Amino acid sequence: RLGGRTRYVGHGIEYHDTVESTNSVAVERAREDVNEGYVVLANEQTGGRGRRRRDWSSPSGGIWTSVVLRPELAPRDASLVTLAASVAVARAVEKTGVDATIKWPNDILVDERKLCGILVEMEADAERVAHAVVGIGLNANSVPDVPDASPTSLAEHVGEVDRASVTADVLAELEKAYETGADIVDDWRERTSTLGRRVRVETPNETVEGTAEGVDGTGALRISTDGGERVVTAGDCVHLR
Ligand code: BTN
Repeated sequence: RLGGRTRYVGHGIEYHDTVESTNSVAVERAREDVNEGYVVLANEQTGGRGRRRRDWSSPSGGIWTSVVLRPELAPRDASLVTLAASVAVARAVEKTGVDATIKWPNDILVDERKLCGILVEMEADAERVAHAVVGIGLNANSVPDVPDASPTSLAEHVGEVDRASVTADVLAELEKAYETGADIVDDWRERTSTLGRRVRVETPNETVEGTAEGVDGTGALRISTDGGERVVTAGDCVHLR
């Protein structure tokens, strides 16, 4: 229950015990003209999707949710939605007593281990975003089995949590962060663990190595390299060194 804490996020909700991917369902609903703030939730996903076409392990016990937003943004400013989502999750996680940081652009880490991933999928024309689906995968009471990585969960730090209440906090914080607009970049900067670090970034064409210096007003990451400054966008993959 959101208990009247939001103006529109979660005012329409559909719940699935098992679904392939809440993002896929939410993208369909967005095309069907559901209201902004419509939420798809699942106990378990059989085909959870991550960024860069990776699979996302989604056993029962996690929080797997997708929210339909209709931001009045030009496509080039669309990564603000991504930054807002990560600030929202970090704030909700903090309420459980767990200290989280954000790895650019939108992974939520605890002690450098991944607690939550966010997949934002947009449809847009040249001028306007039509809709954005914000997919949040938060390891609450389950730790997924991921090869070559060591994810963590809320339960590992504070014991079993009430998924419904954490979900309600995430959604309430998401509405707040989304309403903040471009100022969310400042909140994001305060919570990130990426700036000042050596990073290696894989873009579709090459690997960029250097020091993460900052984010610009659109959320893109500025990196100083031996060959000068480079700017990478949220589709690229960053490794902290
Ligand atoms: C990442 O690669 O870090 C992003 C993972 C996003 C997973 C969430 S779980 C809910 C929603 N449905 C999906 O299929 N993916 C997102």
